[in-house]
Amino acid sequence: MTLREMTVDDLDEVLVLEKKLFPVPWTREGFFTFLIRKDTLFLAVEEADSILGYAGCLIVLDEADILNIGVDPGRQREGIGGFILQSIMRLLQMQGVRYIHLEVRESNETARRLYERNGFAVDGLRKDYYTDPTEDAVLMTKILG
Ligand SMILES: CC(C)(COP(=O)(O)OP(=O)(O)OC[C@H]1O[C@@H](n2cnc3c(N)ncnc32)[C@H](O)[C@@H]1OP(=O)(O)O)[C@@H](O)C(=O)NCCC(=O)NCCS
Repeated sequence: MTLREMTVDDLDEVLVLEKKLFPVPWTREGFFTFLIRKDTLFLAVEEADSILGYAGCLIVLDEADILNIGVDPGRQREGIGGFILQSIMRLLQMQGVRYIHLEVRESNETARRLYERNGFAVDGLRKDYYTDPTEDAVLMTKILG
């Protein structure tokens, strides 16, 4: 398994995963717009030339927002999500980031547990933030030591 930065060339593969994973997937244009920015960091985990998972974040001064994280449905529960999250946290810390924020669907217990296990705490709720289906977003933050 290799961890590396995601590039525009990965988008075909990432979009296939994204459509399997999210009811409202990011579009190619959405990924492209963020990928080419200098204030973002997108990582991909690859094995035998296939992308197994990915995550991206936006960095503003000493704060970062995790924008997305996903693992191939056939390869979940192997620790890959945890590995990507921990890798992104380490890289952000090296860049001087102190606060990492994210939002997650209230019913997404797997993701919420993953974030809690990795030191994120709930610090707010955004009412009806998600569509298809409409659902509140739980806001979580981790303070890096
Ligand atoms: C959330 C997500 C990224 C987690 O990815 P993952 O690779 O399955 O994450 P991990 O394997 O690190 O952890 C998930 C679970 O597998 C368990 N696990 C990890 N390694 C394991 C192993 N070797 N054997 C058995 N279980 C294991 C973890 O304990 C964890 O269990 P839990 O659900 O009871 O807490 C993935 O479920 C996903 O892509 N979901 C859809 C997209 C999504 O919701 N993204 C988050 C948006 S905010």
